[in-house]
Amino acid sequence: MLKIGIIASGRGTNAQCLINAIEEGRLSATIELIISDRPEAGVLERAKKHGLEHVLVRENEYVTRAEFDGEMMNLLKGRGVELVVLAGFMRVLGPAFIEAFPERIINIHPALLPSFPGLNVHKKAIKHGVKFSGCTVHFVDSGLDTGPIIIQAVVPLLDDDTEDTLAARILREEHRILPEAVSLIASGSITVTGRQVRLKNNASIEGNQAMENPPVSLTVSENDR
Ligand code: GAR
Repeated sequence: MLKIGIIASGRGTNAQCLINAIEEGRLSATIELIISDRPEAGVLERAKKHGLEHVLVRENEYVTRAEFDGEMMNLLKGRGVELVVLAGFMRVLGPAFIEAFPERIINIHPALLPSFPGLNVHKKAIKHGVKFSGCTVHFVDSGLDTGPIIIQAVVPLLDDDTEDTLAARILREEHRILPEAVSLIASGSITVTGRQVRLKNNASIEGNQAMENPPVSLTVSENDR
């Protein structure tokens, strides 16, 4: 069974989805360790409640960034972690950490990458006036939210959306695609070639499905084709 380590900075609803999926037998994996860099992070309480190993690793207790990364790396390696899941981790990992887990670190990001990497993504999406946003699970490389994309979900922006309403609509999709991505990796169902992540059984959505926002009302004539 795939041994997972989770790193999270916040309330931990994405981590909770993984915990639930494993506890309910929907996801074949084990959570070996949950790390947080923030003492007040809700994810630590969740870990405690579910009897999972958890540890606080605070960056300001290390002289260099590399030492902070190194401590997390050693903790995860020490527990035999095979897949590191960044579930709301608000920092960028250094090169030594990434090299220690090649193609074995994934991140959930609340936008349709490569649009809106980094922080404050809902604010940026609303300000930009995009009609769709969404969420992405991707492998982590040395860039900021740049690694190969595993799965994305699309949600429409509504005219009266605030950052909070958009975040909530996207979070519901995050909770669907993160366990799915972990499950695909756990079952060895994906191949990665360069930036292309593909399902081995070639599963994909129907190629002729499209969404428009706002809806397109004009009908298409035969002459348009
Ligand atoms: C999620 O929306 C996740 O996509 C985002 O932080 C939130 C964590 O929520 N991650 C990032 O912005 C990473 N740059 P959670 O603590 O409830 O899982």
